[in-house]
Amino acid sequence: MAKTTEEIRTVISQMTLEEKAGLCSGKGFWYTKAVERLGIPHIMMSDGPHGLRRQANPEKYLPGEPSTVQAICFPTSATLACSWDKDLAYYVGQTLAEECIAEQVSVILGPGINIKRSPLCGRNFEYFSEDPYLAGQMAKNQINGIQEKGIGTSLKHFAVNNQENNRFAIDTIVDERTLREIYLAGFETAVKGAQPWTVMAAYNKFNGDQCSENQKLLTDILRDEWGFEGMVVSDWGAVNDRVKGLKAGLDLEMPQKTDDRDMQIVHAVQEGRLEEAVLDRAVERILRVIFRGLDRLDKNAAYDKDAHHDIARKVAQECMVLLKNEGHILPLKKSGRIAVIGDFAQNPRYQGGGSSHINPTRVDNIFDELRKQVGTAVDFTYAQGYRTDADAPDEALLQEAVANARNADVAVIFAGLPESFESEGYDRQHMRMPNCHNQLIEAVAAVQKNTVVVLSNGSPVEMPWIDQVPGLLEAYLGGQALGGAIAAILFGDVNPSGKLAETFPEKLCHNPSYLNFPGFAPRVEYKEGVFVGYRYYDKVDRKPLFPFGYGLSYTSFAYTKLEIDKKEMQDTDTLTVRITVKNTGDCAGKEIVQLYVGDPHSHVIRPEKELKGFEKLELAPGEEKTAEFKLDKRSFAYYNTEIHDWYVESGVFEIMAGASSRDIRLKDTVTVHSTTVIRPVYSRNTPIYTILEDPEARPIAEAFLQEKGLDVKKDFNMEKDSPMRMGVSFASGKLTDALINELLERLEARGSF
Ligand code: BGC
Repeated sequence: MAKTTEEIRTVISQMTLEEKAGLCSGKGFWYTKAVERLGIPHIMMSDGPHGLRRQANPEKYLPGEPSTVQAICFPTSATLACSWDKDLAYYVGQTLAEECIAEQVSVILGPGINIKRSPLCGRNFEYFSEDPYLAGQMAKNQINGIQEKGIGTSLKHFAVNNQENNRFAIDTIVDERTLREIYLAGFETAVKGAQPWTVMAAYNKFNGDQCSENQKLLTDILRDEWGFEGMVVSDWGAVNDRVKGLKAGLDLEMPQKTDDRDMQIVHAVQEGRLEEAVLDRAVERILRVIFRGLDRLDKNAAYDKDAHHDIARKVAQECMVLLKNEGHILPLKKSGRIAVIGDFAQNPRYQGGGSSHINPTRVDNIFDELRKQVGTAVDFTYAQGYRTDADAPDEALLQEAVANARNADVAVIFAGLPESFESEGYDRQHMRMPNCHNQLIEAVAAVQKNTVVVLSNGSPVEMPWIDQVPGLLEAYLGGQALGGAIAAILFGDVNPSGKLAETFPEKLCHNPSYLNFPGFAPRVEYKEGVFVGYRYYDKVDRKPLFPFGYGLSYTSFAYTKLEIDKKEMQDTDTLTVRITVKNTGDCAGKEIVQLYVGDPHSHVIRPEKELKGFEKLELAPGEEKTAEFKLDKRSFAYYNTEIHDWYVESGVFEIMAGASSRDIRLKDTVTVHSTTVIRPVYSRNTPIYTILEDPEARPIAEAFLQEKGLDVKKDFNMEKDSPMRMGVSFASGKLTDALINELLERLEARGSF
């Protein structure tokens, strides 16, 4: 039962040093330790994040043991993010929590919100987006959904863990501004907005220091700045120096190590290398999670597997993205002959590999679901088309598919990436689909102009055949109920409403991380800086294959109004933005309204625009609705490394309403005034006119110069366009090095700078 801080401290006061040290590492793979004599129970943690991977026999678990209990496999996070639906993320969270309650799992290990820096990261399917705002909002809502049912979460992998290659050792080198704006911002949103019970420290190093031993990340930023109140758990096996980790803010080490980790802590305390208070602090945080972790578990609880399967289907329907629909080839007519092609139609690809791999309660057969959707009205044929375990085409399978396609009214090809391409533990080598998939699409499209491709993949692929097919549905990794969702969308019973949560570049080499991914071990340098995903494609004006935020619908939407409640504000004010959208087509649909902000006149290099709000609106034909957004200081700010804080540069900002990052429908501007004064740091090389142009420095400098017998007007040419301007201070011969040094000292001594 949850305990107050006072009660927990009383328990700690009764614990021996060994018991306290022991509590700081797990028992086996999935449990915390119990201390029976003091009534401290143990709790179980299990993997997520898009379903429960609970070991069938957690007490005796050995790595590699495949046996996990059945659970619902929901669409993976890459897919869920394409719904851009915060309520849906919350709802998925609530559903996951119900399964945790029934399976005695106190903490589900997710969500993971690492930024998709490269399309190649093996775990991209487990992560939400290339954009920290979108990732942060989805994670926050999912965590709230889970935790409001009394089950804990683990926000992971903290931090800058954006590749699998060398993940245990790689040292991620990232500059301060990029770290804050891109790689930490999503974590910050989730921590501040949802207080996850736990945060998981990543395997990798960050700027030379192990993440699990990183005082800056685990304490200075996470707790002191963001106010995190929970427990930090290591990723499984991420701890190197246990005592250093504890001091830095790592509370629980998982899993239990065979060598005597606990004694390292005991000895460190006994030898005075570790204050016992630091240990007590970690124990207190761990106990808080343990005691609250059992409150809602119920041995008699069960969940309705069929109902949860239906939920998974409804979720999948909200996520899939219609990328191409030339000549309205979709929705398909519920008549005629349809050639269904591709092994994935019968053996769907619906999740990724590694620790998030779910043992599903059942998996839709897409071909069956298509038939169920339309009954006997459609004459279907099926051809396998390719072998999932091969790269090269199988000529016989290919020819069979081509023959079926030729004799049909429409061909629907199910293709994408086989499971072996996307997994925890390794990255993809390239961005291509297997040759047999690509060649199948090209061969079928050559004989059947009505060809629709349905892709199943957890991250972007190159599409050399894109101009040859009129229809393309990106189904991502849709979870176990993907088939029903795909069938409903293809036949128009559900109107697709997903939009891409990441950019699909035309080629891998167009991606900004291309030259520095996966780095040169032992380091990877994030040299593209803040220009990740659309921030880069926008800046260099390179048209991607499909942009961030893009997705079609069977209906059409007009953006009719953009209103802002003020034209001028201070950065401490809030701006209200209202965007009105109308369904101008003839069927109901949902539009994801995106709000971007740009600072076109910034003195630091900034992205053209950044996502600062989004809302999904459901609209009947002819209906009009307004989405309301609040923009605050953070919406306009960049991370200023001089003041080590968020900073708004005074000036005119653009407010943009977009149907995608590349489809801005309405624009307005607002003038924002900064309330933060940044005092420039002057050096020996600063021209005197720069100092004299600074309203704060000028009076001090003028008084000083006068005192020294110099005249600003006569001795220094302050005319802006004068060719003499540069070097005039020296040309006059009067401003000696000694005088400049004295002036700098004066400026500093006044405490102004
Ligand atoms: C993964 C984590 C996972 C943990 C437990 C690690 O290898 O990186 O995401 O939660 O294993 O399975």
